[in-house]
Formats: sequence, structure tokens, C-alpha cells
Amino acid sequence: MCGIVGYVGTKDAYPLIIKGLQLLEYRGYDSAGIATYNGKLRVFKKKGKVKDLINLVKESSVPEGTIGIGHTRWATHGLPNDINAHPHLSGDGKLVLIHNGIIENYNVLKEALKKEGHEFISETDTEVLVHLIEETQKRTGLPIEEAVRVALTKVVGAYAIIVMDTDEPDKLVAARKGSPLVLGIGEDEFFIASDPTPIIEHTQKVVFLNDEEIAVVQRSGDFQIKDIDNRIQTPFIQELDMKIAELGKGDFDYYMQKEIYEQPKTIEDCMRGRVNAHEGWVMLSGIKEFSERISKAKRFIVAACGTSWHAGLIGEYLIEELARIPVEVEYASELRYRNPIINSDDVVIALSQSGETADTLAALGLAKEKGALIYGVVNAVGSSIARMTDAGSYIHAGPEIGVASTKAFTGQVTLLTIMAMCLGYERGTIPRSYYLQLIEELANIPSKVARVLENSKKIEYIAGEIKEATNALYLGRGYNFPVALEGALKLKEISYIHAEGYPAAEMKHGPIALIDENMPVIVIATNKSAYEKIVSNIQEVKARKGVVIAVVTEGDKIISDIADYTIEIPDTDEPLTPLLSVIPLQLLSYYIAVMRGCNVDQPRNLAKSVTVE
Ligand code: F6R
Repeated sequence: MCGIVGYVGTKDAYPLIIKGLQLLEYRGYDSAGIATYNGKLRVFKKKGKVKDLINLVKESSVPEGTIGIGHTRWATHGLPNDINAHPHLSGDGKLVLIHNGIIENYNVLKEALKKEGHEFISETDTEVLVHLIEETQKRTGLPIEEAVRVALTKVVGAYAIIVMDTDEPDKLVAARKGSPLVLGIGEDEFFIASDPTPIIEHTQKVVFLNDEEIAVVQRSGDFQIKDIDNRIQTPFIQELDMKIAELGKGDFDYYMQKEIYEQPKTIEDCMRGRVNAHEGWVMLSGIKEFSERISKAKRFIVAACGTSWHAGLIGEYLIEELARIPVEVEYASELRYRNPIINSDDVVIALSQSGETADTLAALGLAKEKGALIYGVVNAVGSSIARMTDAGSYIHAGPEIGVASTKAFTGQVTLLTIMAMCLGYERGTIPRSYYLQLIEELANIPSKVARVLENSKKIEYIAGEIKEATNALYLGRGYNFPVALEGALKLKEISYIHAEGYPAAEMKHGPIALIDENMPVIVIATNKSAYEKIVSNIQEVKARKGVVIAVVTEGDKIISDIADYTIEIPDTDEPLTPLLSVIPLQLLSYYIAVMRGCNVDQPRNLAKSVTVE
């Protein structure tokens, strides 16, 4: 939600910031804005995407200066328009600020500031913040970094901010609480951004700011971090290992398409060093340190949102079947607000691609207070969730930029499969022969995913047949039920077709009423157990003239004869099926969205990293 970038150094700030904003655009694309200073402050802001901002700038002269800040917005307070776009200015026009997050007490602050004579032109909470800093500076005469710190003590809510003071044009001040912020340290230059992607082209040396920390970076090369109580902090400088090539689209039309096609590799990367089919073992170093506590846990609770929550449901099936540990899967947003029973002998697993989802972070905070062990399954290295957990495993999927999650989902499922197998082995709940069989089959999954991807022409054809639908139903049983949910979510979010996922057997308890000749019903029918039941479900749909698209195991004749369209996937062991059966559903949504002219990578109203509640 909102991407922010800042630069101070010796190079032209404008192109650096624009490029940074383009890389962060996945975080929000309602409006974009930039401010630079070169003896004169220049501010440009525009409703729409970064390209609209670039066009606006083209109408005048490109702003000069070696210091600047930029923002790409996902609107919370106030419509997406030019006025509400960031940066926002103080009343005297000397301070400029960009913000990601929500200031919850902005109304109280705004009323108090109005009494002091402040006037506001936007509907945003952010403008209140810059006026608050101005007022603090006016009253105390403090340098900007101190005025920011003192002002923030009055703020309730979440923020990642960068502030530029035209009276001190060699420094930027940044602060965070609840929203991510990274500092990049170059040679006589500093970068600040919501995530490392705008930074890594210039330096791999970064500091991830912690909550309630304020950083001041100076053109001289000095920087300092303090906490909100004015204590100097020792920065933890890390060397990242990210490549700029990972951030491009390559030969693909969309990031989502590229990320779907990367899955044979990303699943392999997730298994590297963790799955050895030759020697017959799986291991997860994350669980080693706490192995006693984890394998003896009374219960696992998975906390996640959206697609990660769907991966969590598959994790429930895997861990309960293979390791016989009870698992509950919770929407993080519900878990945090319902006074749940969480005990110190529970393990709470946080699943998150971004590692920044506000609800998941808050749910973890709660679980931590209750003494549970927190385990993170995260993609974004150094993210807030990754840093908050007691133990964890990265899925190593690389940057996921398409807003609709694909490779992170299969990475999470792969990781949970490995975890379930490790625990099952340790607890003696999985027969050795089955353990070895699953290891061998897991190692085959990347090449089987590649085979599914080779089938894309047929999937594209089917997409063309159903692209005009207004509703769709996704059905699956067992391991394929969460896949049905995920298929429906993918279709909804990028093609704006209403879709529902259901356990196949639930269809007759309500959704069957919706079925007619206009309703595509996508059935994930690869199950070996309950195969006859799923065949009956398909018959029930056909009897009501529904259009059946069935995902089946290669060579399936029975369902192929009944369904209108079939998509074959290679045979595999049932617990591993989701890693294959989800791929055609990702492709189906992708092609439908492209055919409907939708912006696949930046669907309306969505943002990649949901850092607000
Ligand atoms: C859907 C999607 C979202 C995310 C959800 C959680 O395609 O991407 O539903 O899965 O916002 O995000 P993370 O995994 O970053 O916590």
C-alpha cells in the first residue's frame, strides 16, 4: 500500500526516483508524485500511474536537484485525485512529506492544528502529519529530525514517512511504524524506499528500519538512527543478494505471466538443500533450533490472508495427514480481533509473501504476547514478519511483482509440504516407504509443473470460450478444495468475473441453484480418493446444463467423456496435487483477464502489499 522513495547524494534525483516509483508501483497506482530541491522546490503530482506523472513533468521542465522524494499511492483517506496525491506540504511550503500508512488520530490532530491557524487543502491524513511537524518545529525550534521525532510521539497509527526540509536541503528524515522502510547506503549517497527493489541497482548495503525508529541521512555521507524516545540505535547493516534482472519482465508481456512460468525454478529453489531424493531425506533448518517444541506442539495455528491463507489450508491438510498435529487456519484479520485461545505450547505459523501484511503482523504480535512460538514462512527477505518471528523459512521465490500471487503460493505449499514431511518423520507418523516415495515425487514436481505449462495453448483456448461469463464456480475436494478457492480468487481479482470456490460436495447445499448453461464450473478432479464422488458432482452440474471445465489426471477417460473441456495434469501423489492443479487455474485467469483487456499486473483497487488494516 503506497510506495515511497527518497534520494540524497550527488546524482540527479528525478530519474532515480521515477525509476524507483515504477518498481514500487505494484504497491499502489491511484496517483503518483515527486518533489525535488535545487535552490527551489519543485513538486509534481498526478492522479493515475507513474507514466501520467512523467507526462505531466514533460509539459514543463524536468525538475533538477540531487535530493528528492517520490510516492505512488493506494488511496485510503480521500479520493485518488491530484490534490490528495503525495507529496504534501506544510503551510509555509518549506516541509515536504510522503507517507505510507494510516494516521488513525488525524481528525483530533487536524482540529487542534486548525485552532492554531493551519489550513488544509487535501482530505488526507498525511497532510495533517506535515502540518504537525511544522507546528512542532515552530514551537520548539528543533532541527527537522528532532521535530519529526517529537511530532511522531503524538501520532496513533501506522506510517513510513520521508520528510524533506527546504531549510536543510542536504538531509532527508525517514521514520517508520507498522509500514516498511529500507535505507540503502551508497558512496556519498542514500536511498530510502518501501522495499529494496529501487535500491539494489545502486547498492546492496541496506538497513531495514525497525518500528518507531527515525533515520536522518545526509549528503555528507553521515547517517544516524534514533528511536522515538531519543535513544541512538546501532544500525544493522546487511548485504542483500538481489539481482536487478529479477525485477524485469524479461520476454513476457506481464509480470504475472513471467511469475507463472518461473514456477518450475522457484519450486526447485524452495527445495534446494531441503529435499534430497538421492539420499532420501527432507530437512528444514528453520525447525531444527526449536525442533523439540515444534514437534511436540499441541496445535499449529496458521495466520495469513488471501492467497497465503489458501496455502495455509493446504498446509492444514498436509500437516494433519502426515504429522498428525492438529492445525487451525485463521484469517489473520479475524484472529487478531476475536480474543482467541492461544497457548504457550502452540506454534503459530505466519504465511506471507510480502512479510508486511498489517493484519498478519498484528496477529503475530498477539500470538507472541500469549507465548506461542512464532514461525514465519515468508518470501520477502528482511521483511517485518521475517524479523518478528522466533524461527522461519524463506520460500526463495524471488521478487513477486504481479499483484496476483502465483509463484509465492506454490513456494508456500512446497515449504509446508517439506515441513509436514519433516515433522511426520520425526514424530513417526509417516511410514518410511511413503516418506521416501513422497520425497522422490516432490523432486519430480518442477518438471511436472513445466509439463503443465506446455499445455498453455489449450488453456488459452478454453479461456476464449468462457471469457464472457459473469460468474464462475470452482469445485474441489480434499487437497483440491483450497485450490478451488485459489482459482476463484485469481479469476476475481484480475478479470473482475465473480467467482466462488466450494468443496465439491457442498455444491448441493446451495450453489447448485446458480447453475445454468451460462455458468462455467471449473472442477479440479484429480483426486484418487473419492474419485467417484467427484464424477457424481460433475454429472450433477451437467444435468443442470452447466459448462464443465475439468482439471484431470493424464489419461482420465471417464471425466473427459462427461466434461465440456478437460485440462490434463501429470499424475502425482495426492498431497502434492495442489502444486500441479493450481497451475492451469493461474493460466486460465491470466488468459481470461488478457482477453477482457484487464490490467493483469495492476488490477483495480488492489495493491500488492497490504500494510493497512
Ligand atoms: C492474491 C493476493 C493476496 C495476498 C494477501 C496476503 O493474489 O496476492 O490475497 O495473498 O494480500 O499477502 P501476503 O502473502 O503478502 O501476506
